[in-house]
Amino acid sequence: MSPHSENRPPSRREFLTLAGVSATALALGSGIPAHAAQPAPPSRGRVPAAPFTLGVASGDPEPTSVVLWTRLAPDPLAADGHGGMPGEHVDVHYEIAEDEHFTTVVHRGRAVATPDLAHSVHPEIHGLRPGREYFYRFRAGEHLSPVGRTRTAPGRHDRTAALRFASVSCQAWYHGHFTAYRHLATEDPDLVFFLGDYIYEYAIGESNLWRQGVTLDPVHNADVRTLEQYRLRYALFKTDPHLQRAHALAPWVSTWDDHEVQNNYADAHSQYGIAVPDFERQRAVAYRAYYENMPLRRSSLPHGPDMRLYRRLRWGDLADIHVLDTRQYRDDFPDDTSAGGEHTDPDRSILGRAQERWLAQGLRQANATWTLLAQQVVMAQIDRDTGPGRTFSMDQWDGFTANRDRVFDAVRRHGVDNLAVLTGDIHRHVAADLKADFTDPASATIGTELIVGSVGSDGDGAPTDDYTDLWLSNPHVRFYDGRRGYLLGTLTPTELTAEYKVVDYIEADDRAPVSTTARFVTEAGNPGLKREA
Ligand SMILES: [Fe+2]
Repeated sequence: MSPHSENRPPSRREFLTLAGVSATALALGSGIPAHAAQPAPPSRGRVPAAPFTLGVASGDPEPTSVVLWTRLAPDPLAADGHGGMPGEHVDVHYEIAEDEHFTTVVHRGRAVATPDLAHSVHPEIHGLRPGREYFYRFRAGEHLSPVGRTRTAPGRHDRTAALRFASVSCQAWYHGHFTAYRHLATEDPDLVFFLGDYIYEYAIGESNLWRQGVTLDPVHNADVRTLEQYRLRYALFKTDPHLQRAHALAPWVSTWDDHEVQNNYADAHSQYGIAVPDFERQRAVAYRAYYENMPLRRSSLPHGPDMRLYRRLRWGDLADIHVLDTRQYRDDFPDDTSAGGEHTDPDRSILGRAQERWLAQGLRQANATWTLLAQQVVMAQIDRDTGPGRTFSMDQWDGFTANRDRVFDAVRRHGVDNLAVLTGDIHRHVAADLKADFTDPASATIGTELIVGSVGSDGDGAPTDDYTDLWLSNPHVRFYDGRRGYLLGTLTPTELTAEYKVVDYIEADDRAPVSTTARFVTEAGNPGLKREA
């Protein structure tokens, strides 16, 4: 595969070399039998065994660029968190082609996988053509990765007929099978939004291992705190074949919530009494492990306990997409949580001042038909008291009402008339209208919030549960379903269609069929959800 970075198709011999000896090469149909392998050219670093056990991924598509990802881990669940890799640098070659058989290769290159970053690589490919599909694969030593498919965004101002996306969140691997991803992989989305809780940091033992048919080494039965533990936790979750297929199928746009570090943390504040300097050290290793395991660009490379995750993407003239980080910069929990208490303090922020300014500027400049906010926690006001009292969650936007008001003000001031907020966190499918004044059902609807339930968290679930009445007692909440699944969205110049997909069980096995439990349409220029099914 040498020379590198040359824009020409591979010769027959090179192609066979690329096909390597790894049976995983066949996983997505490269069509070359393993026995056709030729000796690979020499490469720096030792790869003790087939290293692509965690799959491949791509992310953050721009019109001419996309980032690719893989992580070498011949023994992914090695207890020391090193994935079975020696502590040395290893060359990882990659190529990207216009077709799945790699007859028209448009780019080749080499990245160096280092122990510092858990032998992950994040090559950014440039010079691609807007609005088209590409295929990619990696090679390390003589081993070839599965083939991944990705897609570039349409040109910034290109007339774009549709964006088909999925959103997912909350994948507690130990609570059940990733059946949702098995079905998602048949939907052919252009983009997948991941909205937080890619891992959970809890010890996994008898009481919470509800995924049947697996046995776990006791090493996983400890709360995750160290870099090696976080790395091992990502590896455990990523061994799921349906998750790997979903990554290999389409580019992902990912953001995190709390469990990538610790439950309900706020900036440098742990809710478990850990001193700030100690928690900042934990946050630093958690952020590093997150970067190592996600298809993120270099601009998200963490620096100590800081990592830039909020960013913008654009899909032709159809959508401005603002990806938010409501965890890293938020103010801590208020002491007074009564109605009208400290959580309404105008100084409180869930985004932090810099991200607030960045979002306001982005909303001012937004000129695509739709504005999407891809983010973590529920934005709509949710009164959790079904009686006359009023109670709010301080972990969601309700704990930061002034910040929500400032975002809504910017939406109205800058004429953002087609706003859709994509949310995760609550492990339930919910659809809500966003109101100018949540206490007045007659006030203007300024957007829609599409909250996706979990892929795995909370196990089987049921259509209704203990929280159904609570959510539906809020008049702007239009729909609730407590089962596992994903959301499938289609944006066109005239409407946004949201289909809520569910599976009936996930604990016993991964065989549950999928169904659409509700379908909503929002017309461009006419905010608000209309239920179709
Ligand atoms: Fe969650």
